[in-house]
Amino acid sequence: MKIKGYFRTAIFAIIVFAILWSLLDLSMIDLVDQPLLILGFSILLIAILFNGKIVNNLRNTRADNLTADQKTSQNDWYKNLMKSLTKTKPIEEEEDILMNHTYDGIRELDNDLPPWWVYSFYLSIIFAIGYLTYYHVFDGDDQVELFNQEMAQAKIDVDEYKKTAKNLIDASTVELLTEAGDLESGKTIFNMNCAACHLMDAGGSIGPNLTDEYWLLGGGIKNVFTTISDGGRDGKGMIPWKSTLSPAEIAQVASYILSLQGTTPAKPKAAEGDLWVAE
Ligand code: HEC
Repeated sequence: MKIKGYFRTAIFAIIVFAILWSLLDLSMIDLVDQPLLILGFSILLIAILFNGKIVNNLRNTRADNLTADQKTSQNDWYKNLMKSLTKTKPIEEEEDILMNHTYDGIRELDNDLPPWWVYSFYLSIIFAIGYLTYYHVFDGDDQVELFNQEMAQAKIDVDEYKKTAKNLIDASTVELLTEAGDLESGKTIFNMNCAACHLMDAGGSIGPNLTDEYWLLGGGIKNVFTTISDGGRDGKGMIPWKSTLSPAEIAQVASYILSLQGTTPAKPKAAEGDLWVAE
């Protein structure tokens, strides 16, 4: 009997675990992100085990030393609980609720509905009222709505992150910057590092004119970014700037250069390269 008791406890524990696990799985809660939840469930599980089976089993092992009275008082709370939850008639009183029909020798008892079932039913009605009111009267957010909200929020978060992580950009992701602050920084970088060869107004001297539509190495933000980052053709004098300037700075100065398109420098250098037409 003792072995059987422990066996039951083990099975019980496995079932509780299985249920909890599938609940977690269904709701797709990431276990690792939910330490409080794991803690809560563990405590609950331990509480259940200790309150019921294990303690009972331990008690049973000592039961031999107890008087008959002590034994009954130990089992009373459990019996009372079961009785109040199921309202079953003891077998001796079944005669009272036996119905007076027989089907192929099968007779029927007129038991009360078990309270555990009735109360679950009431609970489900209360739940249904709440559910109906929330979703159908007040038009609560359904899964699709929640999904859209989360996606919208995620987009905001990503944009926010990109703003603080400007250096993540490279030639394939760079976008033309148009904010005054970025162009102002671009101008400062240009005047400090580039004006020596391209002139302050970008009209060109050692380096080519950057204000016209003709480009040796390709126009548009992505090509200009690449040129500044990786430098011009060998021996021409345009060095790679990626070791001096951060990607964000290169994006700023590239955007600044492109903002000068169509301006008229004091002494524009003759156009070099091909007419750039944006795709
Ligand atoms: C030492 C002189 C020198 C400096 C300093 C210099 N450049 Fe240049 N730049 C050149 C030359 C020369 C070329 C032409 C490269 C070639 O023909 O391959 C050029 C080409 C370019 C081009 C490509 C133009 C085209 O027609 O495709 C861009 C854009 C450019 N430079 C931007 C910059 C920026 C931005 C800086 C500052 C961070 C800078 N350059 C600093 C000499 C310079």
